[in-house]
Amino acid sequence: MRIICYTLLSVSLMACSAARKAGQPAGIDPYHYQIQKKIICTQGAVVSAHPLASEIGVSILRQGGNAVDAAIATQLALAVVYPGAGNIGGGGFLVGHLSNGETIAIDYREKAPGHASRDMYLDQNGQAQTNLSQNGHLSAGVPGTIAGLFASAKYGKLPFKQLIQPAIDLAEKGFVITEAEARGLNASQEAFRRYNSVTPIFIKTGGWKPGDTLVQKDLALTLKRIRDNGQEGFYGGETARLIVEEMKRGNGMISYEDLQQYQAKERKPVIFPYKGYHIITMPLPSSGGILLPQMMKMIEDQPVKSYGFQTAASVQLMTEIERRAYADRAKYLGDTDFYKVPVKTLISEAYLRERMKDYDPHKAGSSKITQAGIIAESEETTHLSVYDAAGNAVAVTTTLNGGYGSHTVVGGAGFLLNNEMDDFSVKPGVPNMYGAVGADANAIAPGKRMLSSMTPTIVLKDRKPYLVLGTPGGTTITTSVFQTLINVLEFDMSTEDAVNKPKFHHQWLPDEIAVERDFPPSVREQLQQMGYTINQRNPIGRTELIRILPNGTIEVVGDKRGDDHAAGF
Ligand code: DON
Repeated sequence: MRIICYTLLSVSLMACSAARKAGQPAGIDPYHYQIQKKIICTQGAVVSAHPLASEIGVSILRQGGNAVDAAIATQLALAVVYPGAGNIGGGGFLVGHLSNGETIAIDYREKAPGHASRDMYLDQNGQAQTNLSQNGHLSAGVPGTIAGLFASAKYGKLPFKQLIQPAIDLAEKGFVITEAEARGLNASQEAFRRYNSVTPIFIKTGGWKPGDTLVQKDLALTLKRIRDNGQEGFYGGETARLIVEEMKRGNGMISYEDLQQYQAKERKPVIFPYKGYHIITMPLPSSGGILLPQMMKMIEDQPVKSYGFQTAASVQLMTEIERRAYADRAKYLGDTDFYKVPVKTLISEAYLRERMKDYDPHKAGSSKITQAGIIAESEETTHLSVYDAAGNAVAVTTTLNGGYGSHTVVGGAGFLLNNEMDDFSVKPGVPNMYGAVGADANAIAPGKRMLSSMTPTIVLKDRKPYLVLGTPGGTTITTSVFQTLINVLEFDMSTEDAVNKPKFHHQWLPDEIAVERDFPPSVREQLQQMGYTINQRNPIGRTELIRILPNGTIEVVGDKRGDDHAAGF
């Protein structure tokens, strides 16, 4: 076995003296751990937003679990060590390519409660009250994560009890928090005070410091109920009672019936060819299932490789492609269980060729002129990538929506609820928290799933997994996955560069190119001269990438933009 491992960023966290060593798998110490950005290995790998979660995933692989088992254990661990996005009170998507050739897509997106209605966030004057769709009890959709994990477990090998135990131990005995977590929790203290009826554990007088130990007793009890009673340990019994009581105290909408009725759905994965590769991704309600094939097909016959990485020419081409895809998103995309989306046309080559007809490589396009295509027929998130020695590949993106979701913790149950209702179009044309607009296709209806951007993706080369990737980042998710794919498949970049080099984003409206701080100034100027508005913004996404080379070597890269950690053996 060959292990070469080097650490690009290393943070050592000291335990407070009172901390006791928790019963974690060998080698995992929740009071002393380091962040590892890259590992090259041969047996199996997990890359996620937190070192403890990645290492727990790998320990499950070492115990004989497969990639699905590891993905489940990693998600449960993230729900404890990464409360800003890891969750049991939110939802997500899993895309997998199993060693027997089967592809799977599991949808555990949140749903609008049964009493939700189209105009529930409009005041008497018809004004959208996005404070209500974005914060507190009313912003929460019916959580899907636990149903999703049990639906996934069917493809795993180990008992669920074994997968959830490390998370229980972390919640019960605590772990030390990183600098980024301390910063995140401190920035949300006011929101935690405002949106809770019972003081949550996340509030700390005097603020959090890196190295503080976070113990979550209520969460540990909830996880034990799930361990002992399965899905019903969340959607029924004491946990359901606590959720419904929390809703009553805070004027929320999720009812006992909503919880009992929630079901994860197995969907048909989107699979499309790209220059000899096969790309597998999540279908609707992930907009990625439409936008990624649209963007890849619009670029496929363009000379992007000869333009070079992040030249004005390549950024302009990709921007115009992104603009066209996102214009369609706003008009046509929503939950296909509720709305007839013209899926076939939107990803057909004839339609996409037509969309690119007015692309001018010398001039900035305009979102006033470029609208959604004409179709005649009717028709704080986190990502983890896992690969195992048997050849199973799993990509999971899961979310509470904003950082720490609604900021509402279910009293006595210790977990944060999502604020996913804001991913619906609360009113046509009114932007959500990511600036995205929508219309009828994504209007609120009882039991409907809100449109998502989450794009967990697997690329096959010669029918075997080659890349496993995904990222958080709201509407920037799909453009980040698009750019990471182009970086590897067209610009032949190293995996680290493909993940860490600056990203940019265009989403039709606002009509601007958002760029990261380290985006090259000279390219910025050239784009401005062509007529583009450029807006510098905070970091875009946190991409977790695994590449499996033909000789079996596994390259694993965690994004530089956070505590992301690559683990493997
Ligand atoms: O499903 C979606 O598209 C959003 N709720 C994702 C939110 C997200 O990525 C936040 N992370 N930065």
